[in-house]
Amino acid sequence: MHNVTLIKGDGIGPSIMEAAVAVIDASGAKINWHEAEAGMAAYERTGTPLPDATMESIEKTRVAFKGPLTTMVGEGFRSINVELRKRYDLYANVRPAKSWNGVQTRYDNVDIVIVRENTEGLYVGLEHYLTPQKDIAESLAVVTRKGSERIVEYAFQYARDNNRKKVTVCHKANILKFTQGLFLKTAREVAAKYPEIEFDEKIVDAACMHMVMKPEQFDVVVTTNMFGDILSDLTAGLVGGLGLIPGANIGADAALFEAVHGSAPDIAGKNIANPTAVMMAGVMLLNHLGEHEAANRMQAAIEKVVSEGKFVTPDLNPASTCGTREMAEAIIAAL
Ligand SMILES: NC(=O)c1ccc[n+]([C@@H]2O[C@H](COP(=O)([O-])OP(=O)(O)OC[C@H]3O[C@@H](n4cnc5c(N)ncnc54)[C@H](O)[C@@H]3O)[C@@H](O)[C@H]2O)c1
Repeated sequence: MHNVTLIKGDGIGPSIMEAAVAVIDASGAKINWHEAEAGMAAYERTGTPLPDATMESIEKTRVAFKGPLTTMVGEGFRSINVELRKRYDLYANVRPAKSWNGVQTRYDNVDIVIVRENTEGLYVGLEHYLTPQKDIAESLAVVTRKGSERIVEYAFQYARDNNRKKVTVCHKANILKFTQGLFLKTAREVAAKYPEIEFDEKIVDAACMHMVMKPEQFDVVVTTNMFGDILSDLTAGLVGGLGLIPGANIGADAALFEAVHGSAPDIAGKNIANPTAVMMAGVMLLNHLGEHEAANRMQAAIEKVVSEGKFVTPDLNPASTCGTREMAEAIIAAL
């Protein structure tokens, strides 16, 4: 029996997470879910977006399965997602984007894994105004050799373990000579230790164009925090949208699994949110727990239902009247 902290989250979170938990429970893996709160709903109920009980739960289980959290607007609030990643030092954010049978897009040959540095860069929260009138603002990016080394090592190890052929580092070292320069220099040093894996370098703006024109030239991509955030939405667009892309946040002694997408307030409460992304995050969770057989079974059932295109949410098939719950039921039947 595995212990996992379950955070259902905000907006579409509760509906897609309930769907995903039902499928995971039907996959054969035995999980003892510890439900905890975070985000807007937690703030409204308890006065804090990250209650102590939630952190205590993650400290015990060291594994969390999390729905999207609405980021509270206003200068006094930090993103809870950023806070969780920093608190548990979840330095590697792994976001695979693969073409799906049955999902019509411009390409049918995309298979890109974004490995995003998750704790440094421009998202460290060092921001302030420089004048009392608040008409000049400044954000600082922090890049360390240790942080760069471990994320690039992670990307190469991931490539080695998953029989991947190439790692591309995406950077902006031509302009940001210090922060991005350090990241690129460190990436080159790490790459030299993996001669069997092809190493490529791309300036991030050019990488965006190449990804849209010829996505098959990318395999594993390693990059800094904000570029990874943006590039992973781009890769989501290449394979059918945010409803399909999972993400794993991995640290040395804790891990958190979630979808790449947010709480989608525009479609919350309508039973039309696509649960595939969080279900695929569930597949990553099962693999992390060593439940490979259940993970493979679950992935095959999701792929069957998506490829048939009948019991899928309207973002995948506009003619479909199937909802989140019905899609989960079809996947459980396929299991
Ligand atoms: N990891 C997280 O918890 C996370 C990630 C991104 C954004 N957010 C937060 O979520 C809130 C909403 O952000 P946003 O609107 O910019 O991005 P979003 O990802 O919530 O939505 C972007 C668009 O994609 C659609 N979409 C997203 N998920 C979908 C799904 N599963 N099925 C079908 N369509 C889906 C939405 O309807 C919307 O049109 C913000 O507060 C943001 O900060 C949280």
